[in-house]
Amino acid sequence: MARKKISLVGAGQIGGTMALVLAQKQLGDVMMLDIAEGMPQGKALDIQEGRSVIPTATNLSGSNDYADLAGSDVVIVTAGLPRKPGMSRDDLLDVNFGIIEKVGLAIKEHAPEALVIVVTNPLDAMVYAMQKVTGFPANRVVGMAGVLDSSRLACFIADELGVSAEDVRALVLGGHGDTMVSVYGAASVAGIPLSQLMSKEKFDELAARTAKAGGEIVALLKTGSAFYSPGLSAIHMAEAYLLDKKSVLTAAAQLNGEYGVEGGLYCGVPVVMGAGGIEKVIEVELNEEERKAFDVSVDAVKDLVSWVENKMA
Ligand code: LMR
Repeated sequence: MARKKISLVGAGQIGGTMALVLAQKQLGDVMMLDIAEGMPQGKALDIQEGRSVIPTATNLSGSNDYADLAGSDVVIVTAGLPRKPGMSRDDLLDVNFGIIEKVGLAIKEHAPEALVIVVTNPLDAMVYAMQKVTGFPANRVVGMAGVLDSSRLACFIADELGVSAEDVRALVLGGHGDTMVSVYGAASVAGIPLSQLMSKEKFDELAARTAKAGGEIVALLKTGSAFYSPGLSAIHMAEAYLLDKKSVLTAAAQLNGEYGVEGGLYCGVPVVMGAGGIEKVIEVELNEEERKAFDVSVDAVKDLVSWVENKMA
Protein backbone atom coordinates (compact mmCIF):
# COMPACT_ATOMS: atom_id res chain seq x y z
CA MET A 1 0.00 0.00 0.00
CA ALA A 2 1.40 3.42 -0.95
CA ARG A 3 2.17 5.90 1.77
CA LYS A 4 -0.44 8.54 2.44
CA LYS A 5 0.36 12.14 1.56
CA ILE A 6 -0.60 14.96 3.90
CA SER A 7 -0.22 18.49 2.59
CA LEU A 8 -0.07 21.50 4.87
CA VAL A 9 -1.03 24.74 3.16
CA GLY A 10 0.50 27.42 5.34
CA ALA A 11 3.85 26.55 6.89
CA GLY A 12 3.74 29.06 9.73
CA GLN A 13 3.51 28.22 13.42
CA ILE A 14 0.60 25.78 13.14
CA GLY A 15 2.00 24.24 9.96
CA GLY A 16 5.37 23.65 11.60
CA THR A 17 3.75 22.12 14.68
CA MET A 18 1.62 19.80 12.55
CA ALA A 19 4.60 18.69 10.47
CA LEU A 20 6.52 17.67 13.59
CA VAL A 21 3.53 15.85 15.09
CA LEU A 22 2.85 14.07 11.78
CA ALA A 23 6.48 12.93 11.61
CA GLN A 24 6.20 11.59 15.16
CA LYS A 25 2.95 9.79 14.39
CA GLN A 26 4.11 8.49 10.98
CA LEU A 27 0.69 8.97 9.43
CA GLY A 28 2.14 9.59 5.96
CA ASP A 29 4.60 11.77 4.10
CA VAL A 30 4.28 15.49 4.60
CA MET A 31 4.40 18.32 2.05
CA MET A 32 4.55 21.84 3.49
CA LEU A 33 3.45 24.64 1.18
CA ASP A 34 3.72 28.37 1.68
CA ILE A 35 4.12 31.54 -0.38
CA ALA A 36 7.23 32.51 1.62
CA GLU A 37 10.17 31.32 -0.46
CA GLY A 38 12.47 28.90 1.31
CA MET A 39 10.44 28.81 4.55
CA PRO A 40 8.49 25.55 3.98
CA GLN A 41 11.62 23.97 2.49
CA GLY A 42 13.65 25.05 5.53
CA LYS A 43 11.13 23.77 8.09
CA ALA A 44 10.71 20.46 6.25
CA LEU A 45 14.49 19.99 6.05
CA ASP A 46 14.89 20.86 9.72
CA ILE A 47 12.45 18.10 10.79
CA GLN A 48 13.84 15.77 8.12
CA GLU A 49 17.29 16.08 9.72
CA GLY A 50 15.85 15.05 13.10
CA ARG A 51 14.20 11.87 11.81
CA SER A 52 16.89 9.58 13.09
CA VAL A 53 16.36 10.94 16.61
CA ILE A 54 12.52 10.89 16.62
CA PRO A 55 12.84 8.16 15.13
CA THR A 56 10.58 8.14 12.07
CA ALA A 57 10.46 7.00 8.45
CA THR A 58 8.28 9.95 7.42
CA ASN A 59 9.54 12.00 4.46
CA LEU A 60 9.01 15.75 4.53
CA SER A 61 9.28 18.29 1.74
CA GLY A 62 8.61 22.00 1.28
CA SER A 63 7.26 23.87 -1.73
CA ASN A 64 6.01 27.21 -3.03
CA ASP A 65 4.17 25.57 -5.92
CA TYR A 66 0.51 24.54 -5.65
CA ALA A 67 1.13 21.80 -8.24
CA ASP A 68 2.88 19.90 -5.45
CA LEU A 69 -0.53 19.31 -3.85
CA ALA A 70 -1.02 16.55 -6.43
CA GLY A 71 -1.67 13.16 -4.88
CA SER A 72 -2.64 14.53 -1.45
CA ASP A 73 -4.93 12.38 0.66
CA VAL A 74 -5.43 15.15 3.19
CA VAL A 75 -4.89 18.90 2.85
CA ILE A 76 -4.85 20.97 6.04
CA VAL A 77 -5.24 24.69 5.44
CA THR A 78 -3.88 27.22 7.92
CA ALA A 79 -3.00 29.83 5.28
CA GLY A 80 -4.16 33.29 6.27
CA LEU A 81 -3.42 35.95 8.83
CA PRO A 82 -3.73 35.38 12.57
CA ARG A 83 -5.37 38.06 14.67
CA LYS A 84 -3.47 40.54 16.82
CA PRO A 85 -4.35 41.67 20.36
CA GLY A 86 -7.59 43.67 20.35
CA MET A 87 -8.90 42.02 17.18
CA SER A 88 -11.72 39.48 16.94
CA ARG A 89 -11.49 36.48 14.61
CA ASP A 90 -14.22 38.09 12.50
CA ASP A 91 -11.91 41.03 11.73
CA LEU A 92 -9.95 38.62 9.53
CA LEU A 93 -12.93 37.85 7.28
CA ASP A 94 -12.00 40.05 4.32
CA VAL A 95 -8.29 39.33 4.11
CA ASN A 96 -8.53 35.60 4.80
CA PHE A 97 -11.45 35.04 2.43
CA GLY A 98 -9.22 36.16 -0.47
CA ILE A 99 -6.58 33.65 0.59
CA ILE A 100 -9.05 30.78 1.05
CA GLU A 101 -10.53 31.45 -2.39
CA LYS A 102 -7.10 31.13 -4.00
CA VAL A 103 -6.10 28.06 -1.99
CA GLY A 104 -9.47 26.40 -2.61
CA LEU A 105 -9.11 26.75 -6.38
CA ALA A 106 -5.63 25.24 -6.20
CA ILE A 107 -6.86 22.30 -4.13
CA LYS A 108 -9.71 21.73 -6.57
CA GLU A 109 -7.26 21.64 -9.47
CA HIS A 110 -4.41 19.63 -7.97
CA ALA A 111 -5.92 17.50 -5.17
CA PRO A 112 -9.51 16.76 -6.21
CA GLU A 113 -9.78 13.61 -4.08
CA ALA A 114 -8.40 15.03 -0.82
CA LEU A 115 -10.10 15.54 2.51
CA VAL A 116 -9.76 19.24 3.34
CA ILE A 117 -9.44 20.42 6.93
CA VAL A 118 -9.71 24.20 7.31
CA VAL A 119 -8.16 25.94 10.31
CA THR A 120 -8.07 29.54 9.01
CA ASN A 121 -10.27 32.09 10.83
CA PRO A 122 -13.02 33.11 11.03
CA LEU A 123 -13.35 29.35 10.93
CA ASP A 124 -16.99 28.61 10.18
CA ALA A 125 -17.17 31.15 7.33
CA MET A 126 -13.83 30.04 5.90
CA VAL A 127 -14.77 26.36 5.77
CA TYR A 128 -18.10 27.34 4.19
CA ALA A 129 -16.18 29.30 1.53
CA MET A 130 -13.77 26.39 0.99
CA GLN A 131 -16.63 23.98 0.29
CA LYS A 132 -18.22 26.43 -2.16
CA VAL A 133 -14.96 27.16 -3.97
CA THR A 134 -13.85 23.52 -4.32
CA GLY A 135 -17.34 22.15 -4.92
CA PHE A 136 -16.20 19.04 -3.00
CA PRO A 137 -18.86 16.96 -1.25
CA ALA A 138 -19.48 18.38 2.22
CA ASN A 139 -18.28 15.20 3.95
CA ARG A 140 -14.79 15.98 2.57
CA VAL A 141 -14.59 19.62 3.69
CA VAL A 142 -14.48 20.17 7.42
CA GLY A 143 -13.37 22.80 9.90
CA MET A 144 -11.14 22.38 12.95
CA ALA A 145 -12.32 24.21 16.01
CA GLY A 146 -14.56 22.06 18.19
CA VAL A 147 -11.75 19.63 19.03
CA LEU A 148 -9.69 22.60 20.20
CA ASP A 149 -12.50 24.34 22.11
CA SER A 150 -13.54 21.07 23.79
CA SER A 151 -9.92 20.31 24.70
CA ARG A 152 -9.53 23.77 26.24
CA LEU A 153 -12.65 23.29 28.35
CA ALA A 154 -11.43 19.82 29.38
CA CYS A 155 -8.11 21.38 30.41
CA PHE A 156 -9.80 24.02 32.59
CA ILE A 157 -12.05 21.37 34.20
CA ALA A 158 -9.06 19.12 34.90
CA ASP A 159 -7.06 21.95 36.46
CA GLU A 160 -10.02 23.03 38.61
CA LEU A 161 -10.64 19.48 39.89
CA GLY A 162 -6.96 18.56 40.16
CA VAL A 163 -7.38 15.51 37.90
CA SER A 164 -5.66 14.39 34.72
CA ALA A 165 -6.86 16.16 31.57
CA GLU A 166 -6.79 12.81 29.76
CA ASP A 167 -9.71 11.63 31.91
CA VAL A 168 -11.91 14.63 31.14
CA ARG A 169 -14.40 14.72 28.27
CA ALA A 170 -16.06 17.99 27.31
CA LEU A 171 -18.27 19.21 24.51
CA VAL A 172 -18.27 22.70 23.00
CA LEU A 173 -20.66 23.41 20.13
CA GLY A 174 -21.58 26.25 17.81
CA GLY A 175 -19.47 28.76 15.93
CA HIS A 176 -15.79 29.15 16.76
CA GLY A 177 -16.24 32.59 18.28
CA ASP A 178 -17.25 34.31 21.48
CA THR A 179 -20.72 32.71 21.25
CA MET A 180 -19.56 29.07 21.37
CA VAL A 181 -21.65 26.85 23.68
CA SER A 182 -20.22 24.58 26.41
CA VAL A 183 -22.60 21.76 27.37
CA TYR A 184 -22.62 21.01 31.13
CA GLY A 185 -24.60 17.79 30.81
CA ALA A 186 -22.12 16.37 28.28
CA ALA A 187 -18.99 16.79 30.40
CA SER A 188 -17.62 13.87 32.39
CA VAL A 189 -14.54 12.68 34.26
CA ALA A 190 -13.65 9.03 33.70
CA GLY A 191 -17.33 8.32 33.04
CA ILE A 192 -18.58 10.27 36.08
CA PRO A 193 -21.01 13.03 35.08
CA LEU A 194 -19.39 16.38 35.80
CA SER A 195 -22.55 17.51 37.61
CA GLN A 196 -21.52 15.15 40.46
CA LEU A 197 -18.14 16.84 40.77
CA MET A 198 -18.62 20.51 39.88
CA SER A 199 -21.39 23.08 40.30
CA LYS A 200 -23.05 24.67 37.28
CA GLU A 201 -21.81 28.08 38.49
CA LYS A 202 -18.18 26.94 38.43
CA PHE A 203 -18.73 25.26 35.05
CA ASP A 204 -20.15 28.50 33.64
CA GLU A 205 -16.99 30.33 34.73
CA LEU A 206 -14.83 27.80 32.91
CA ALA A 207 -17.14 27.93 29.87
CA ALA A 208 -16.74 31.73 29.76
CA ARG A 209 -12.96 31.34 29.86
CA THR A 210 -13.18 28.74 27.07
CA ALA A 211 -15.12 31.13 24.83
CA LYS A 212 -12.32 33.68 25.22
CA ALA A 213 -9.44 31.20 25.34
CA GLY A 214 -8.10 31.98 21.85
CA GLY A 215 -8.01 35.67 22.75
CA GLU A 216 -6.26 34.91 26.06
CA ILE A 217 -3.39 33.32 24.11
CA VAL A 218 -3.34 36.15 21.54
CA ALA A 219 -3.02 38.68 24.39
CA LEU A 220 -0.11 36.72 25.89
CA LEU A 221 1.76 36.06 22.64
CA LYS A 222 1.15 39.58 21.28
CA THR A 223 2.47 38.63 17.82
CA GLY A 224 0.09 35.86 16.77
CA SER A 225 -2.37 33.26 17.96
CA ALA A 226 -2.27 29.78 19.48
CA PHE A 227 -0.54 27.10 17.45
CA TYR A 228 0.36 24.03 19.50
CA SER A 229 -3.16 23.02 20.55
CA PRO A 230 -4.72 23.99 17.19
CA GLY A 231 -2.04 21.94 15.40
CA LEU A 232 -2.64 18.93 17.65
CA SER A 233 -6.40 19.24 17.15
CA ALA A 234 -6.16 19.30 13.35
CA ILE A 235 -3.90 16.22 13.38
CA HIS A 236 -6.39 14.46 15.68
CA MET A 237 -8.98 14.93 12.90
CA ALA A 238 -6.63 13.88 10.09
CA GLU A 239 -5.76 10.74 12.03
CA ALA A 240 -9.44 9.85 12.46
CA TYR A 241 -9.80 10.01 8.68
CA LEU A 242 -6.57 8.29 7.67
CA LEU A 243 -7.02 5.41 10.12
CA ASP A 244 -10.79 5.20 9.63
CA LYS A 245 -11.17 5.49 13.40
CA LYS A 246 -14.88 6.43 13.50
CA SER A 247 -13.86 9.02 16.10
CA VAL A 248 -16.59 11.05 17.71
CA LEU A 249 -15.29 14.59 17.78
CA THR A 250 -16.63 18.10 17.37
CA ALA A 251 -16.01 19.68 13.98
CA ALA A 252 -17.37 22.47 11.83
CA ALA A 253 -19.63 20.40 9.57
CA GLN A 254 -22.20 21.31 6.97
CA LEU A 255 -25.73 21.28 8.39
CA ASN A 256 -28.77 20.53 6.28
CA GLY A 257 -31.60 20.40 8.78
CA GLU A 258 -29.63 18.97 11.71
CA TYR A 259 -30.06 21.13 14.83
CA GLY A 260 -32.78 22.94 12.86
CA VAL A 261 -30.09 24.65 10.75
CA GLU A 262 -30.77 24.79 7.03
CA GLY A 263 -28.95 26.08 4.00
CA GLY A 264 -25.66 24.24 4.25
CA LEU A 265 -24.29 26.46 6.99
CA TYR A 266 -21.13 25.19 8.70
CA CYS A 267 -21.12 25.06 12.48
CA GLY A 268 -19.42 23.10 15.28
CA VAL A 269 -21.30 19.88 16.11
CA PRO A 270 -20.31 16.37 17.19
CA VAL A 271 -19.66 14.09 14.23
CA VAL A 272 -18.39 10.61 13.47
CA MET A 273 -15.16 10.92 11.50
CA GLY A 274 -13.68 8.03 9.54
CA ALA A 275 -12.58 7.08 6.03
CA GLY A 276 -15.73 8.71 4.65
CA GLY A 277 -14.73 12.05 6.19
CA ILE A 278 -17.72 13.35 8.12
CA GLU A 279 -19.75 10.15 8.19
CA LYS A 280 -22.52 11.34 10.48
CA VAL A 281 -23.65 14.40 12.41
CA ILE A 282 -24.74 13.50 15.93
CA GLU A 283 -27.60 15.55 17.35
CA VAL A 284 -27.23 15.94 21.10
CA GLU A 285 -30.17 16.96 23.22
CA LEU A 286 -29.78 20.54 24.43
CA ASN A 287 -31.74 22.12 27.28
CA GLU A 288 -33.54 25.42 26.76
CA GLU A 289 -30.61 27.58 27.85
CA GLU A 290 -28.14 25.70 25.63
CA ARG A 291 -30.54 25.70 22.68
CA LYS A 292 -30.96 29.48 22.89
CA ALA A 293 -27.20 29.98 23.13
CA PHE A 294 -26.67 27.65 20.17
CA ASP A 295 -29.16 29.63 18.07
CA VAL A 296 -27.36 32.87 18.92
CA SER A 297 -24.09 31.26 17.84
CA VAL A 298 -25.62 30.05 14.57
CA ASP A 299 -26.91 33.58 13.90
CA ALA A 300 -23.38 34.94 14.36
CA VAL A 301 -22.10 32.43 11.77
CA LYS A 302 -24.98 33.34 9.42
CA ASP A 303 -23.90 36.99 9.41
CA LEU A 304 -20.38 36.04 8.31
CA VAL A 305 -21.64 33.59 5.73
CA SER A 306 -23.95 36.22 4.14
CA TRP A 307 -20.84 38.36 3.67
CA VAL A 308 -19.12 35.42 1.95
CA GLU A 309 -22.19 34.78 -0.21
CA ASN A 310 -22.27 38.42 -1.36
CA LYS A 311 -18.58 38.35 -2.14
CA MET A 312 -18.94 35.17 -4.21
CA ALA A 313 -22.08 36.30 -6.06
C1 LMR B 1 -7.81 29.92 18.60
O1 LMR B 1 -8.92 29.70 19.09
O2 LMR B 1 -6.76 29.80 19.23
C2 LMR B 1 -7.71 30.31 17.15
O3 LMR B 1 -8.99 30.44 16.61
C3 LMR B 1 -6.91 31.53 16.95
C4 LMR B 1 -7.52 32.79 17.54
O4 LMR B 1 -7.42 33.84 16.90
O5 LMR B 1 -8.05 32.75 18.65
